[in-house]
Order: sequence, then structure tokens, then C-alpha cells
Amino acid sequence: MDSILIRGGGALDGQVEIAGAKNACLTLMPATLLAEEPLTLTNVPRLSDITTMTTLLRSLGAEVSSLQDGRVLALSGHGADNPLAHYDIVRKMRASNLVLGPLLARHGQAAVSLPGGCAIGARPMDIHVQGLEALGAEIELKDGYLHAAAPRGLRGGEVTFPFASVGATENVMMAATLARGTTRIHNAAREPEISDLATCLRAMGARIQGDGSATITIEGVDRLHGATHPVIADRIELGTYMLAPAIAGGQVELIGGALELVGAFAEKLHEAGVEVEDTGHSLRVSRTNGRVRAVNVTTRVFPGFPTDLQAQMMALLTTAQGVSVLEETIFENRFMHAPELVRMGARIEVQGGTATVTGVERLKGAPVMATDLRASVSLILAGLAAEGETVVSRVYHLDRGYEQVVRKFSGIGARIERLRS
Ligand code: EPZ
Repeated sequence: MDSILIRGGGALDGQVEIAGAKNACLTLMPATLLAEEPLTLTNVPRLSDITTMTTLLRSLGAEVSSLQDGRVLALSGHGADNPLAHYDIVRKMRASNLVLGPLLARHGQAAVSLPGGCAIGARPMDIHVQGLEALGAEIELKDGYLHAAAPRGLRGGEVTFPFASVGATENVMMAATLARGTTRIHNAAREPEISDLATCLRAMGARIQGDGSATITIEGVDRLHGATHPVIADRIELGTYMLAPAIAGGQVELIGGALELVGAFAEKLHEAGVEVEDTGHSLRVSRTNGRVRAVNVTTRVFPGFPTDLQAQMMALLTTAQGVSVLEETIFENRFMHAPELVRMGARIEVQGGTATVTGVERLKGAPVMATDLRASVSLILAGLAAEGETVVSRVYHLDRGYEQVVRKFSGIGARIERLRS
């Protein structure tokens, strides 16, 4: 298994091109199952999760061609006549569950393996099930698979989510596009990826309003047609690279970044003493006036502080002046990066969903282990500012969600290399 070596060093300077959003692409790809005609996605990130979704869609009979060195995907749901999403693929990536709604809408039936837990939490699907049952689906759990059926087709309904689940909003929105009648989703997720999916579905002929707000209305249509859609920029990659100059000092320009993608996160950076400027086509981030200030962070659904940036923010706060309190309210076990940061000299106390970080002057490089996608990159960020060498092992986690991470960090002056083993 490869690892990444970082030599802590001085201030950073340069530009990073922000790629298309992994979490948008993972819900846009299954949308091809809703139409017979081709769906073309551009600005596609080159990530192992995209490869996994490609494998899953092909197993369902869909066609997926990767063009222009992986930047473009040409998909077709034309031959997608297999309604079974197998455990062997689904267990690798929870987002596989996003084929459930489209399969149900297309075939009137689906069997999707429960994804099983992952490092950060149990991650059940009860909200997905509640939403699809409100559209007339009959769903039962058997042998680890969710067996869903809508023999008389799906009908529009009123859905009120107990929690603004991103995946459940995406599954129900996709299923509702072909249901008979109107569906209203209350307490819908408001993440930018939801709006990006709605934009793509509208281009395919769907009738959707209210995406980005807490109430989404979908008027079912008989069929959808093909479309071409550019994947939105990845706000989590954006936030991650914004933290590089924040933790190591210097100035970095993030091409494709926009404040509207990272609202609450950018406000927290500003509160900590980091300058963020929106140039209209990029974000310029700089920290040149000494250590950042401690800040308190509570993760929330969008537009609150994103849980997917909590680990990275913690890395910054380990070297802040003062004591910061981080509250993780979305997942039940998302502090696995804390003990690794402690190995680098950080002072962190974890009590349930709360981590208290007492800033230190400087971290010390050490061998550390990546435990999940976002934790892995928080260790790289810590290594940028640490004294000496940091080696992050199990970097396959990184390859799931960060494209060309060594090239991008090297491009802004980090001393970083990938050690093949
Ligand atoms: C999406 O996961 C993202 N993944 C996650 O990003 C992200 O952390 C999460 O949204 C929250 O923003 C993709 O978009 C592919 P949820 P999702 O349903 O849809 C509980 C990354 O690093 N829940 O909003 O699975 C669940 O257990 C990944 O890129 C239920 O209880 O998130 C969790 O505690 C990690 N029942 C919380 O809600 C359900 O039916 C958030 O889940 C569904 C969810």
C-alpha cells in the first residue's frame, strides 16, 4: 500500500485547479438509469469512487464510456435491464445506494444491497426507505438487500424527512421525476450537489422546483431524455486546499472556487484570521500575519459548516492560538484523525461528539495512518506545517476523493511525494 511523505516547510504560493465534485458526480451518474437516451457528464473528477460507480452501473446493464482522459463520461441507461445492485460492489462505496430510486422509477422494482457501516458510522437507510414508500414503493429488507417494488408504478406524494439526508433527498428526487403526479419533499437537503442534480434532471426533461431550499417540488413526467451536464466544482476539495495556506502560511489561488460553495466554512476561516477573497473565477486565500486564532466549530447540514471539512479544520486548529471546541453532529464516529494528530504533538481531547483542541506552537512530523477519506487529507495538511517528516500510510483512502493530490500540493510549493510500495 502506497504512502505519502511530506516534509514540513515554509509558506505556500501558487494555484490549484478545483476538480468536479465527487459527491455531485456520484448522484449524477445513476440518473442515466432514468432515460433511454445518452447522458454526457463533463468536468468529471478522476477518482476511484467514480470508477466504482462505473462498475456498478455497468453491472446493471448501463453503458459508461470514459472519454478525454476521464474528464468526460458518456452514459446510457438504454440496456440497463438488471435491477440488482450486488453486495460485492455496494459494500465498497455507500453512494452505490443512489441507484435505488432510479431503478425503482425505471423498472418498478430494485434489489440493492445495504451498504453496511463504514468507518465514520452505521449509516442506515431508513430515511431513504421512508421517502420511497411515500411514493408508493413497497420495500423490505431480506438477506442484506433492500427489495423494493412498485408494481403499479410510483405515484407523487408528500415526504417529510426527519433529517435532511443528502442521499435520501437525491434518491427520492430522482424517483419522483417519473412518478405519476406531484411530489413535495419537506426538510430536503440543501447541499449544492442537490441543486446540481436538479439542474441535470431538468436538462433531461424533469420538472423540479425549490432545489437548494428545504422544500422541493417534483412534477412527474412520462419519460426523460438525454442531456449534457457539467459537474459542479468540488466544495470539499476547495475547502481542503483553502486550509493549506491557512496552516502553512502564504497565499494560494483556487481556480473554480466560489464563496457560495463554502459560505459557513469561509466565515470560520475569516474568524480564525485567514483572508479569503472571491475574484469571480477563483478564491484567493492567504495567511501572512502569524498563527491563526482558535475558533469553535459545529458541523451542520448545508448551509452550515460541512462535516466533510471537520477533520481538515481540526488540523488547522491544532496550531491555533488558544482552545477550540469542535462538535460533530452529523456522524457518530468522525474523530478518528484525532489520535493520529496527537502522534504529531497535537493536544486534543475527545468526549463523544465533541473534541477540544488546545493549540500548540508547532506540530512534529511522524508516521501516521489514514482511517477514512477526509481524515487522510487532514494528516497531509498537518504535515505541511509540522517540523520534519510525516509519512501518511493507507493513502488508498485519499485516491477515493482527491484527484492528483501530490501534484496539486507540489504545485503550491509543498514538499510532498508518493512512496510506492
Ligand atoms: C453524503 O452522504 C456525502 N456522500 C457524505 O460525504 C457527506 O458526509 C454526507 O452526505 C453529509 O453531508 C455523498 O454525497 C456520496 P446523509 P450521505 O444521508 O448521503 C444519517 C465524503 O466524505 N442517516 O446526509 O450518506 C447518517 O447515518 C462523504 O465525501 C440516517 O440515519 O449522508 C448520517 O449520520 C462521507 N438514515 C447522517 O444521516 C438515512 O436513511 C448524514 O447522512 C440516511 C442517513
